[in-house]
Amino acid sequence: MSPFHKIILTGLLMITPITIATAKDSKPKNIPALKDNLPGPFAVGAAITPNDTYGSNDHCLILQKHFSAIVAENCMKPDTIESSRGNFNFEQADKIVDFANKNNMRVRWHTLCWHQQTPAWMSRGADGKDATKEEAKENLKTYIQTVMAHNKGRHIDSYDVVNECISDQTFELRSEREGARWMATIGPEYIDDAFIWAHEADPDAFLVINDYNLESNVNKRKAMYELVKGMKERGVPVDGIGMQMHIDIYGPSAAEIKESIDYFAELGVKVLVTEMDMSCYKWEDRSRFMNKTAHDEAMVVQADRYKEIFNVFGQAAKAGKLDMVVFWGIDDGNSWKNGFPVQGRTDYPLLFDYKLNPKSCFWSVIGKKEPKK
Ligand code: XIL
Repeated sequence: MSPFHKIILTGLLMITPITIATAKDSKPKNIPALKDNLPGPFAVGAAITPNDTYGSNDHCLILQKHFSAIVAENCMKPDTIESSRGNFNFEQADKIVDFANKNNMRVRWHTLCWHQQTPAWMSRGADGKDATKEEAKENLKTYIQTVMAHNKGRHIDSYDVVNECISDQTFELRSEREGARWMATIGPEYIDDAFIWAHEADPDAFLVINDYNLESNVNKRKAMYELVKGMKERGVPVDGIGMQMHIDIYGPSAAEIKESIDYFAELGVKVLVTEMDMSCYKWEDRSRFMNKTAHDEAMVVQADRYKEIFNVFGQAAKAGKLDMVVFWGIDDGNSWKNGFPVQGRTDYPLLFDYKLNPKSCFWSVIGKKEPKK
């Protein structure tokens, strides 16, 4: 080897280990695991895509290290699973379920019956014409029972059987005018039916009714309470209420969240937090960006609020009322809040930042001092 090559090689040997160590240190290593440092006995989950499960993906490392539960952000929805009549495609969903099973994580199924991300054929008969009530029932029943038969033995922790069925305007069942197609084709009984069909398909499955703003809107909360109370009185097998928990740094308060969990728990059902995130924008605000000062202030408020709210979850878990909190995404960069309610927005709603580093709210949730940047 020439002296020149020797110099290059020695240089490389000196540089390489340092480079690798630095790259690794900025990733999940040396950071306490979220799932082992929670303020109570509950699982912590994230909504993900199948790509996040690939070993080469940094998201995969974060999931394995920090989370004990997962759900699909989109690929367990009816438009992916049965995009046309009779053509079931479980490929994407199976990747997520298999990853959970392999990594000893709990896995939720979201969602069987919804008014969005549901293909148009479900409102039609086999002849392509508008479905009669009986045909619509058959479509929904076959869908629910085929999915659950496929999943049997694959350890699905809980199913969101019906999603977002309460109206934000009337606080009654979401109407056809508000997009509720099952309401239009089957009528209000579609909710009981969906739960009964799900239970028939798998009597051991844990069945959830899921909705948003239950923590912030007292009328909607009451409507959900009455709905589930009625279902239980009619003997409909509903096991849990899913509170989506898409909130922001302005509200609702930790006290309101506690109040809603306690209220639902009175019904003898478990409460699950199914889609948590905390936007840095007020709902009415339609801006796409915030300046650095506003961002930095938001991060401080967010950390305080996440801490208070997680303490409420911890208490509720200790009291046996709640046993899982799922975030709607892993990191700010992939959050749906960057597109909703304002397209092209930059939001910061989750515990990991755009570079996948833990944020101040991560440290406040686990009750540890944030290291200096
Ligand atoms: C959202 C996904 O995050 C988006 O990627 C998709 O484009 C639309 O749906 N409530 C729900 C979730 O129940 O299914 C929604 O997920 C967010 C609101």
